[in-house]
Formats: sequence, structure tokens, C-alpha cells
Amino acid sequence: MAKLRVGVLISGRGSNLAALMEAARHPDYPAEIAIVISNRPGAAGLEKARAAGIPICALDHKIAESREAFDRAMDETLRQAGVDLICMAGYMRVLSDAFVETWHNRMINIHPSLLPAYPGLNTHRRALADGVRITGCTVHFVRKEVDTGPIIAQAAVPVLATDDEESLAARVLAAEHVLYPFALRLIASGQVSVDGNRIIDRGLGSHATSSLFSPRPE
Ligand code: GAR
Repeated sequence: MAKLRVGVLISGRGSNLAALMEAARHPDYPAEIAIVISNRPGAAGLEKARAAGIPICALDHKIAESREAFDRAMDETLRQAGVDLICMAGYMRVLSDAFVETWHNRMINIHPSLLPAYPGLNTHRRALADGVRITGCTVHFVRKEVDTGPIIAQAAVPVLATDDEESLAARVLAAEHVLYPFALRLIASGQVSVDGNRIIDRGLGSHATSSLFSPRPE
């Protein structure tokens, strides 16, 4: 079966991109990375993709005439690369409504919280300030309102009494690197589809996992 062709949008480091690239190296993985686009020409993730032989494109948003014009250029690049699905991986620029509409149900994002808790920025700082005992990450389809959309998969991690923003971010990021390739596999293999604001699973419900307690009862 033909692999799903994925375009990855980044703005920086690209560690989630690296996790997707690593997964896609396996011959039985149902998706391949067709292109990586950054809105920042200096993004470290671009170099990771280039080193792996993946086509890259740097579109500098600072010289674009408008958000719409920038997104149109991105759309054109994605189409030329034959992209079926967009993965936002640390893409930190708000998308125009027209772009989101064009890629409706064909664009997913990873966010470092258990949405709908903590949309937006500084998720770990806010979780620590609130004293929550569990946080995590979410992969979801993209809708016009930032960090909303049907939830494909989530991973929960404990917040420890000793945590600061850096240690919590590292724990969540490690979970992101497992969750994103898994969620992309679910979509690319047709195991999930969208129905309104919810995801329909095919045969995933039987994989019961144990509860995460934080703190854990002895
Ligand atoms: C990741 O933690 C990702 O969840 C977050 O940015 C980081 C990018 O890291 N994304 C958002 O906050 C989007 N709202 P990476 O460049 O190493 O993948």
C-alpha cells in the first residue's frame, strides 16, 4: 500500500521531527516524510532533515507580505511535494483561517499538555503553578481556534514535587517522542478517523492500559 506523504512544519529544534523521521525509517511504517518546512531559516530541525536526505524549505515569515501570503506560499510548497497530511511539530506561528480550512482533517499538531487543559504557551510553568499532579501531551487535528480539535492520542506523565519547568518539560518531551509517531501511525494505517469533534477508533479500545497515579498509592 502507498505510504501517506507527510509534510512537517517546524520553527525550531525539531526533536519531534527527529522522532517522526526515525519512525519513518522503518520499512513497515505507513507514512513517509515528503518535505520539512520551517518559518525560521535558522531552525536547527532543518539541518536534521537535510542530513537525513529529506527535502527542506525555509520560508522566512519576516519577509512575507502578510500571514495569508506566507501561508499561500507554504500551501503551494506542500502541494508540489505531494503532501497528504501535515504534522505541526513545534511550529510556533498562528496559521491563517484559509490555510486551516484548506487542510481540514489533513493537519495534526502536538501540544505539551493534556488538552483542553493549558492551551497556548508556557504549559509547564502553568501546570507547576497550579500544582497539578499529572500532565502530559496531546496529538490532535487542527482547527481554527489554537490548540483545539479532535484528540487523536494523549500521554500522561506525573508531576513530581522536585520538578522545575525544565525537568517537567524533559519528561513530557520524552512522552511526545513516543506519542507523535504512534498517533501518525494510527492515521496513516486508517485505524482512526474523524467524526465531528471526536475520533473514531477501529479496534483500539481493547488495548486497556493501567492507570497513572500521581502520587502512587502503595
Ligand atoms: C514541543 O514540546 C511541542 O509540543 C511544542 O513545542 C516543542 C517543540 O519541540 N509545541 C507547542 O507548544 C505548540 N503549541 P521540538 O522542536 O523539539 O519538537
